[in-house]
Amino acid sequence: MSQPWSQRFDSPLHPTIEAFNASIGFDLALLPVDVRGSQAHARMLARQGIITPEEGEQLVQGLAQILREYEQGTFPAQGEDVHFAVERRLTELVGEVGKKLHTARSRNDQVATDLRLYLREAIDDVTEQLRRFQQVLCGVAAAHVETLIPGYTHLQRAQPVSLAHHLLAYFEMFQRDKIRLQEIRQRVNISPLGAGALAGTTFPIDREYTAELLGFQGVCANSLDAVSDRDFVVEFLTTASLILVHLSRMSEELILWSSQEFGFIQWRDSCATGSSMMPQKKNPDVPELVRGKTGRVFGHLQALLVILKGLPLAYNKDLQEDKEAVFDTVKTLKTCLAAMTIVWQEGIVFQKQRLAQAVESDLSNATDVADYLTTKGVPFRSAYQITGQIVKFCVNSGRLLKDLTLAEWQGFHPQFAEDIYQAITPQEVVARRNSLGGTGFAQVRTALAKAQADCA
Ligand code: ARG
Repeated sequence: MSQPWSQRFDSPLHPTIEAFNASIGFDLALLPVDVRGSQAHARMLARQGIITPEEGEQLVQGLAQILREYEQGTFPAQGEDVHFAVERRLTELVGEVGKKLHTARSRNDQVATDLRLYLREAIDDVTEQLRRFQQVLCGVAAAHVETLIPGYTHLQRAQPVSLAHHLLAYFEMFQRDKIRLQEIRQRVNISPLGAGALAGTTFPIDREYTAELLGFQGVCANSLDAVSDRDFVVEFLTTASLILVHLSRMSEELILWSSQEFGFIQWRDSCATGSSMMPQKKNPDVPELVRGKTGRVFGHLQALLVILKGLPLAYNKDLQEDKEAVFDTVKTLKTCLAAMTIVWQEGIVFQKQRLAQAVESDLSNATDVADYLTTKGVPFRSAYQITGQIVKFCVNSGRLLKDLTLAEWQGFHPQFAEDIYQAITPQEVVARRNSLGGTGFAQVRTALAKAQADCA
């Protein structure tokens, strides 16, 4: 195919080199934003008298036609990249005037503009998905304020907590993710258009006007930086990686909880899968895939950092490699969030009996024994040591704290009285952790109401 660049070249590209150089195989996803950017550019050219108003209008209409073709699946994706393919088709559709579109513009400021518009939209979509996901989590939490679940540190039973409190911990992570997305959106939403290849242009363009037409909050101040900066991509990939870290930690818990050893949840058939060989199996493929997919997104982040670290100013073709990283990250993020939302909506059933039995049958109320003595005037460290002896006694005799007789309690310390039994029931143990941000039911109800308002 004939090259769109100048006639300084005598021979065509070697076909293997042509294919190697091309990005049309993956950057077509930019077409809708490429068209929008070009329409803004054409309007600006006309407004500034660089082309006539009629020419501007022809370009805008031709570009609209291209978008329709793309949406109908009939756009001819030919050429090195999406930018050339659009210009080529535009000239087919509107004739010679199509060749005026690229006045005062380079593919370097064009592709940077496209990528920023694309990411801005992706950020808004993902923010909305996170909000929906948070709503679903709040719904499950609301049903389980007084359902207790063992709380762990070092994956050893530590203290029981409200299941809602546990779920609201995830809510907090996704809340920070939403805020982070809004913060990086501000730096994504700046216009590089009009920076030209690297140095600006001789034409009397109006960068603020195109920025305004495209909904950008401002213009990149330095033309070299405008075309070579991909910090906003790194920031997006970092934020995406953190969201996946959160989804992956959650996945790990779902996988553990559904093992026979834990048995805290069961999978509904709509969200679990079977084994091709073992008829009894029901597998948690969804959280496993989410956990697994984090790897590729971390990989994209690493790739981009490496691509950027040795680049001289300004645009270098290395930057074409940012596209697939971005596209795959957006797709992975969206599909993981969609799947996890469904899992929490309908995929799992908490096994309340098993949970109740779990918090009844361990020594995770030992802290409360020490706290009990402390409120009766024993210094905490001494109370802790005495409770240590009691725990040792229980472990050696295979009993639980609630099984000790009052005489046995008092053998360890005279301050133990009948009310020790009430103080160490799981319900009481949780209810009394009513410090700000703690798992006490009153705290959890307040936190839940705030969370519901945050994602309403
Ligand atoms: N396809 C290129 C990219 O994605 C567009 C910019 C090309 N610019 C250039 N000077 N070759 O980065």
